[in-house]
Amino acid sequence: MAILEKKSSQHLIELEDKYGAHNYHPLPVVLNKGEGVYVWDVEGKKYYDFLSAYSAVNQGHCHPKIVGAMINQAQTLTLTSRAFYNDKLGEYEKFATEYFGFDKLLPMNTGAEAVETALKLCRKWAYEKKGIPENEAQIIVCENNFHGRTTTIISFSNDEVARKNFGPYTAGFIKIEYDNLSALEQALESNTNVAGFLVEPIQGEAGVYVPSEGFLAKAKALCEKHNVLFLADEVQTGIARTGKLLAVDHENVKPDILILGKALSGGAYPVSGVLANDTIMSVIRPGNHGSTFGGNPVAAAVAVAALEVVRDEKLAENAEELGQLFRSELDKYIEGSKIANLVRGKGLLNAIVINDSEDSDTAWNICVALKENGLLAKPTHGNIIRFAPPLVMNKEQLLDCVSIIIKTLKEFEK
Ligand SMILES: Cc1ncc(COP(=O)(O)O)c(C=O)c1O
Repeated sequence: MAILEKKSSQHLIELEDKYGAHNYHPLPVVLNKGEGVYVWDVEGKKYYDFLSAYSAVNQGHCHPKIVGAMINQAQTLTLTSRAFYNDKLGEYEKFATEYFGFDKLLPMNTGAEAVETALKLCRKWAYEKKGIPENEAQIIVCENNFHGRTTTIISFSNDEVARKNFGPYTAGFIKIEYDNLSALEQALESNTNVAGFLVEPIQGEAGVYVPSEGFLAKAKALCEKHNVLFLADEVQTGIARTGKLLAVDHENVKPDILILGKALSGGAYPVSGVLANDTIMSVIRPGNHGSTFGGNPVAAAVAVAALEVVRDEKLAENAEELGQLFRSELDKYIEGSKIANLVRGKGLLNAIVINDSEDSDTAWNICVALKENGLLAKPTHGNIIRFAPPLVMNKEQLLDCVSIIIKTLKEFEK
């Protein structure tokens, strides 16, 4: 009995509450097992995972190939640091650069670290290649961005909850409206010290905002015209999530610096990285940048397996097909709904906007009800619920999820 009590959700939530910092507000569900598109709570209830750890688990929970690669490598060699070579990193770098079409990879661990790496790389390129005067480089970013949690990254966030009382902030960023080409053009024309433009091809965290068609391609062309680097943060949108390998592929845009994380490991291990061609990456020399864990042999083995799964199981194609189906099924329901305003997204990165004020609890309450009905999702900002299941989902499972979502929304119709 005592053992059973110790494992109850309530007890485990209380442990986190008492001994953990309160930097998250999780849905009240405690998970202890995952397989493919499913997760189970400690009481044994099964759920569809409709968040995929913020798009890290694109390949599905505990994918046997990825877990197998991890176990195998963990039993052989886990960490050497970059003080020495290891026999996995070079192979991974060759594989990843060919896979994404760049000359070089700089491996890191988390998404925020990869963004920091891209910012540093961009600044150094600006001083050494573009000739911007020292300490004058500016990087253009977008309003409502989400690029991570470091002090520099939150310096150019406009989310007050993420920013307030963490100053002083890092200088050198110009903020423009997302999806606004004339704002970008004006920022590029009014400042000769612009080094780069950092952009999420779809703003995931802000609420799955898809920019107007042509925005990315035209923004890239403007950057080229002004000799400014185009930095694509594909930490959330990349690796098949939006129905193409990269979200920029929808507009045939090749970023100068590509930032990846999350699904680079299928959620099995923290793996991130930055890809660029030699003309840019060559500014990084020994001692300029690094990480004890970046490029470790486990990460390298896991990332190769995770990328092979995406390719071999045609996850981008599946995301594209199921995404169309998801939006068309929900569109049909939303047409006559009072509680849901719209569904938007690309591939299997979607969101519904709930018809209530931004500071209402309705989206949260709907997520709690979805949980009761066997599907886990979470509001992004305010009244928006993000839907991002693992990409290994099949059509039958997706339709089952659509019916759970519709059944739940019906409980909230007035
Ligand atoms: C677009 C984007 N960039 C960066 C990050 C930060 O990644 P991490 O949480 O691994 O630091 C995230 C995380 O959600 C993200 O969505």
